[in-house]
Amino acid sequence: MAKRKIIIDCDPGQDDAINLLLAFAATDELDILGVTTVAGNVPLELTERNARLICDIAGRDDVCVYAGCSRPMVRALITAEKVHGTTGIDGIEITPPSRPLESRHAVDFIINSTLNAIDGPVTLVPTGPLSNIAIAIVKEPSILDNVDQIVLMGGAMREGGNYSPSAEFNMLVDPHAAHVVFECGRPIVVFGLDVTHQLLATRERIERIRALSTRAATATAGMLDFFNRHDTEKYKSGGAPLHDPCTVAYLLKPDLFECKDCNISVEIHSELTIGHTAVDFWGVTGKDSNAMWAYDVDADGFYDLLVEYLGRY
Ligand code: RIB
Ligand code: CA
Repeated sequence: MAKRKIIIDCDPGQDDAINLLLAFAATDELDILGVTTVAGNVPLELTERNARLICDIAGRDDVCVYAGCSRPMVRALITAEKVHGTTGIDGIEITPPSRPLESRHAVDFIINSTLNAIDGPVTLVPTGPLSNIAIAIVKEPSILDNVDQIVLMGGAMREGGNYSPSAEFNMLVDPHAAHVVFECGRPIVVFGLDVTHQLLATRERIERIRALSTRAATATAGMLDFFNRHDTEKYKSGGAPLHDPCTVAYLLKPDLFECKDCNISVEIHSELTIGHTAVDFWGVTGKDSNAMWAYDVDADGFYDLLVEYLGRY
């Protein structure tokens, strides 16, 4: 079976990093054309450095990292050091990456690699603010002819917001980019807080990962140890929700998730609710569906998958 061609666009961030480690282990299933980075959890100079460091931990010398937008399309950048730490991937030792950053801008890489992909389309896998994806679409709309799916982490319905009362972080940081992506007309699969908050990194799950004793698993456990502290205090929960790895887990084992065709619109006008994802789960607007909204997940199956692939290193 042909490998699925993907581009991961991310803002590492511990959960972005774990998503990369999951994807890098899927050497039989995924052909990773490249990793593009965007400002989000921490500024761009850290997200791109972090992505290159994760490539080293994974031993993936073949994967190139590109830097993209250092700010959202319209609004000023907001970052999340209170969640992710000042490095963005607190919980592991920060060492200088072994490979240089690619000189090409991430937006141009997304455009060129999608237009030039042969023998099959490309799946875009964004797990941060959607600035790079949106600007690539605006700059070169024809890339959409060769994009089969956009599989993204972002949004919220029943869970409410995690960075404002109404909006999830990725959508809040660049709501205008999110609007462009949700209106682009290509199939979108959306993993929002409603499903990620079912995937808590409990102490038992972290120790199960740590026991694998691979370099990638040890790094994952260390990042989760740090990543847990903010959300367990905020939500008084047994662990932090593991957001971004929903995207690659879906590519590898879609049956883990329950999804529903919905219309999803992003608020870009109201200062009070900007970035809110209006998920028309019950079809009350009569608008055409533009996305698959993930609303349930086999949590144990998800962590079994993560352990299986982290154990491959
Ligand atoms: O709201 C969670 C999302 O925001 C995740 O992608 C996390 O990495 C942060 O970017
Ligand atoms: Ca992210």
